[in-house]
Amino acid sequence: MTRIFLNGCCGRMGRAITDLASESDEFEIVAGADVVSSDSLGYPVYQSLAECKEEFDVIIDFSNAKVVPALIKTAVDMNKPVVCCTTGLDQDTTDLLTEASSKIPVFKSANMSLGINILIGLAKKAAKVLYPGFDIEIVEAHHRRKLDAPSGTALMIADAINGECNNELEYVYDRHSRMQARDSKELGISAIRGGNIVGEHEVYFISDEETVKISHSAKTRDAFARGALSAARYINNKEPGFYSMDDMLSGAFEEEENV
Ligand SMILES: NC(=O)c1ccc[n+]([C@@H]2O[C@H](COP(=O)([O-])OP(=O)(O)OC[C@H]3O[C@@H](n4cnc5c(N)ncnc54)[C@H](O)[C@@H]3O)[C@@H](O)[C@H]2O)c1
Repeated sequence: MTRIFLNGCCGRMGRAITDLASESDEFEIVAGADVVSSDSLGYPVYQSLAECKEEFDVIIDFSNAKVVPALIKTAVDMNKPVVCCTTGLDQDTTDLLTEASSKIPVFKSANMSLGINILIGLAKKAAKVLYPGFDIEIVEAHHRRKLDAPSGTALMIADAINGECNNELEYVYDRHSRMQARDSKELGISAIRGGNIVGEHEVYFISDEETVKISHSAKTRDAFARGALSAARYINNKEPGFYSMDDMLSGAFEEEENV
């Protein structure tokens, strides 16, 4: 049994995790924190992690980028592992997470779904073969309430592709400020927002003769919730360090790469 403290427990992802955990014998949410209160979750909800009185094993965070620094400092003080899923983190917060990983296990991923991490593996393979020669574009769509743009996932895909292209691609966000023809070393990233879209990502490799499109569509938030719970189980009792979906899923592409 993995006992979890859930930061941002009253949000959309917090509720999805609460529902999944309640159906499982492997996970128990023992307490959570949120700035809005709720008595319908079935566990105590505090204003912050520091107030938590319950014993727990791992923190899962789906909250707001502004609150992550304080959460990480408290996690280090409490010596508890963190699965950080909040996106839109600035460089200082990312550095803080890296620093914290010398003292506690830190798992960070802008996308916890199995499918998107498979997409990243495919996109890396495609980039290796198709670049240079094909223009690469990423298009993402999310619900209208999402705060950050482009999505953390789009940036994660872009970084993975860029790594396969000797990091020589320049990210171009939407195109409105750039009245010029596309350069072959651009990596275009475009975002749209509307309705209740859970999360859609498309990666295009476009030449004069053909287009390869790799896409992922999250149908429900359970895809992320399930991944976050798996990550909590994965880092529980691990040594301090920085862990990612790559570590958790390692092996998925290795066999093929060796062919
Ligand atoms: N990594 C992934 O796979 C993944 C998937 C979906 C969403 N996200 C990210 O997770 C975050 C949350 O997403 P969401 O859709 O649940 O958003 P949401 O707005 O529905 O929920 C966020 C919750 O955090 C709470 N919160 C705000 N300040 C807080 C504080 N000081 N302490 C504790 N809680 C606080 C809010 O009140 C809200 O209930 C966003 O950054 C989103 O982009 C990541």
